[in-house]
Amino acid sequence: MTHLSLDLTVDFKRQVLEGTATCSVDVQPGSSSVIFDTRDLHIASVAVDGQPVQDFQLGDSVEYLGQALHVPVTTGKHSVSIRYSTSPQASALQWLSPQQTAGKKYPFLFTQSQAILARTWAPVQDSPGIRFTYDATLHVPDGLMAVMSAENPTARSKDGVYRFKMEQAIPAYLLALAVGDFDYHRYDDRSGVYAEPATLPMAADEFTDLPKMITAAEQLYGPYAWGRYDLIILPPSFPFGGMENPRVTFATPTIIAGDKSLTTLVAHELAHSWSGNLVTNATWNDFWLNEGFTVYFENRIMEALYGKDFADMQRRLGQDDLLETVKDLGASNPDTRLKLDLKGRDPDEGVSDIAYEKGNNLLLVIEQYTGREKWDRFLNDYFRKHAFSTMNTEAFLEELRAGLFANDPDVWDSLKIEEWIYQPGLPANMLRIESERFSKVEKVIADWKGGVAPTKEATNGWSAFEWVHFLRSLPDSLPHDDLRYLDQTFGFSRTGNNEILFSWMEYCIRDRYTAIYPALEAFLNEVGRRKYVKPLFQALLQTPEGKIEAKKIYAAARPNYHFITQATVDELMAE
Ligand code: BES
Ligand code: ZN
Repeated sequence: MTHLSLDLTVDFKRQVLEGTATCSVDVQPGSSSVIFDTRDLHIASVAVDGQPVQDFQLGDSVEYLGQALHVPVTTGKHSVSIRYSTSPQASALQWLSPQQTAGKKYPFLFTQSQAILARTWAPVQDSPGIRFTYDATLHVPDGLMAVMSAENPTARSKDGVYRFKMEQAIPAYLLALAVGDFDYHRYDDRSGVYAEPATLPMAADEFTDLPKMITAAEQLYGPYAWGRYDLIILPPSFPFGGMENPRVTFATPTIIAGDKSLTTLVAHELAHSWSGNLVTNATWNDFWLNEGFTVYFENRIMEALYGKDFADMQRRLGQDDLLETVKDLGASNPDTRLKLDLKGRDPDEGVSDIAYEKGNNLLLVIEQYTGREKWDRFLNDYFRKHAFSTMNTEAFLEELRAGLFANDPDVWDSLKIEEWIYQPGLPANMLRIESERFSKVEKVIADWKGGVAPTKEATNGWSAFEWVHFLRSLPDSLPHDDLRYLDQTFGFSRTGNNEILFSWMEYCIRDRYTAIYPALEAFLNEVGRRKYVKPLFQALLQTPEGKIEAKKIYAAARPNYHFITQATVDELMAE
């Protein structure tokens, strides 16, 4: 498949997308049919080169994968038109009622296609190894705005019709659409932010460093290839922190803290414009090539903007997450290998800190050995050479070895690079990341053990990172009087900083400090970001009183969550 042309009507009443997908295909000699991925799609009719086809076939339904659509064709170039509609249960789509938006007046729709959910809203070849260009005509209710991972409007259309064009080839997991009541704020010629009118002023203030981030990224690894880079701030049920949809990153509103302290997520999604969107993991087993590189690159962007101190705090928190994850999964668990084996499983199961943080830590080992200059040159070449194509783990290792280790085969072994990739657990040469600013945080906690409680003065000027480290470094249990003191002194339960709030609530649940339950309930009713929702429910389920609370909260909150978050929490609840 080489091109996709969509013509879709967005029907909020029936919660379906309905219309036609026309796929340009180039059929190789020896093939007599072309196969598309579909899941929960209702196929009304199929035509090849304008001629109706009766003998297309929908295969049996397979868990996660859906149904293969076989269309008979002859060798050569053809255009296959599929008239279809989606199901209200389509996993990629979340249809929000006005009540679930910031403005409360208009409905909202957004998609989340990664990893293999694009097939629930369009018949496509849904593998990261297959790229296509696309265009789309969308019919939306009057007055609403629409954006896609494509060339986008910045103002509303009068008749509810929007036309999109994406001339750079992308894999299906980067197909994206959002429809709702939102406006645009421009930062400069190539970047800006979309958000609901109620959210836009705050959003516009939060991400003012965006142009600087793009420039810093380009200075590191070459020109930004996608024209514009915009953000859209979605309603709080968005199941991820961010999604790197080309030209317009989709993001959770939970990163708006009022002080720009959580914008590192934007650096992450921006970095995917190189690692992931330009050079794409060939299969989901190579997912670490997308995420590990992106975490590394994200930290480099933050370091360029805010200094090494700052970036090191972030690297250290990531490494601490990694140690925790390996402990949870077990150091011999095959899922702690960088190269995954997801055969017969939903690729969503491969999403863990391993790809992100073990991946990043391997790259830090290589960086330390080669020095930044050589390493940066290597990465520059890598992104340029493989732009708009795919990469698998083996090909990357080959290139790495030839490019940086050709004269040092012994170093290759001593850096244990293959162990990092193919063995579970963490190799002994992982670099422990030290942070001076975190040492100061640890001192405050040590002083507390010595009888001096933390004060506003002692914690003056702390960033969100320092607070998260503080909360993570507290003793396993504290007397509830101490927790009350902390909350009164630092106002954790009322903080607008969701990273701090999350760490605080997680600690309190573990320590059975039920006074935070009302704040927790409010948070879980509103926010559907899986990274927060999952650990909070997990922690609740550990205690008898928490279990009761979890069931109660989930009964009310579940309808507010995206399918992806629902599926994760359903599984926890069933255990
Ligand atoms: N591409 C991911 C999100 C994703 C991964 C969706 C796999 C579906 C399957 C995105 O770039 C991401 O990593 N988001 C993180 C943010 C981050 C700063 C680590 C998130 O959502 O928390
Ligand atoms: Zn990512």
